[in-house]
Amino acid sequence: MWSDEAVPSLPNPYCMSSPIAKNLLRWYSSRQRDLPWRKRPRPYAVWVAEVMAQQTRLETMLPYYRRWMRRFPTIHSLAGSSEQDVLLLWEGLGYYGRARNLRRAAQQVVREFGGRLPLTAEALRRLPGIGRYTAGAIASLAFGADEPAVDGNAIRVLARVFNVKLLAGSSAAQVRFWTLAAAHLPPGRAAEYNQALMDLGAELCLPRKPKCGVCPLRADCRAKALGIQEQRPVKVKPKAVPTRHFAAAVIRQGGRVLVVQRPAAGLLGSLWEFPNVRLSGAHSSTATYRRALKKDLGFALPLGQHLGDFSHQYSHFNAHLRAFHTSLNGSRPRVDSQRVFRWVPLAHLQKLPMGKLDRRIAEAYCRIEV
Ligand code: ADE
Ligand code: SF4
Repeated sequence: MWSDEAVPSLPNPYCMSSPIAKNLLRWYSSRQRDLPWRKRPRPYAVWVAEVMAQQTRLETMLPYYRRWMRRFPTIHSLAGSSEQDVLLLWEGLGYYGRARNLRRAAQQVVREFGGRLPLTAEALRRLPGIGRYTAGAIASLAFGADEPAVDGNAIRVLARVFNVKLLAGSSAAQVRFWTLAAAHLPPGRAAEYNQALMDLGAELCLPRKPKCGVCPLRADCRAKALGIQEQRPVKVKPKAVPTRHFAAAVIRQGGRVLVVQRPAAGLLGSLWEFPNVRLSGAHSSTATYRRALKKDLGFALPLGQHLGDFSHQYSHFNAHLRAFHTSLNGSRPRVDSQRVFRWVPLAHLQKLPMGKLDRRIAEAYCRIEV
């Protein structure tokens, strides 16, 4: 097992003092998932993996991870990349700030530390995009430090085993989870312990119908003893997310279409999109969408060029978008002077990083235009 390298050879008097850690590690030694950064945990590989895995399921991120490591195998290669290339490689994973921060942090690591990641969780946290979890994961997995790393899966396990009644999102609960994780951490074996908690949460301690019958922690689990597993962690009912309505236009001139770059800050920062406008509420009539676009772009779209309706769930709202297409005949669309825009050949669209909605618009448009 790779982590033997990190285990001190001297017997440690505290090691395994927690039955929870002992049972976790025993389970992990035979059941751990085969993840590409586990066998030989290079700091850079662990960093990329842990950032990608945040807010994204492992099955979804793994193909991205492999592609990324082929394209940017080292911190230096990432530091020398363009932001657009990085965003294109990240396209579809969402939360694009993660990709921009990875690149910025790589540049900082090259500039300030000669391309080597700092060794401690504390120093790691000073880099852009590295929070408490990522710092703990890199320090423990890559450097063998005795640091906890508590993600959502680990929180579910801890909340149940220790029957934590605090509201999971509260800062008091965060303190409790990290303290519990640290208190049971077996010295010298943080990498296995942290990942065992995460794997257990992902494979057995499921949000619904946890598989307590085969769980290595069943003898010590307070929520199981009380039969209240599914009531832990305590969460408030998520708020219903609002729906926002948009109209978008694919505007063609000769063999090119107009695309606009989103501002660097905020949702889908620096990605490209077709000109679009948000409507004030829900509308069913196409005329309303058309009017909104006309007002925004300063010219009338001809009738009957409905490309399709598209929906996507973002974390804080659902987007409903109706897309139109048109060819320009002398009229000039008006683009916000703060925005960068380009007229690009259709074949070039796939080289521009886009959000899910705009990618689907581009695909729909290319289908009708071939
Ligand atoms: N989720 C994110 N990183 C992980 C890891 N290293 N092991 C298990 N699950 C994870
Ligand atoms: Fe989760 Fe059940 Fe195991 Fe407790 S016994 S940690 S609730 S799977």
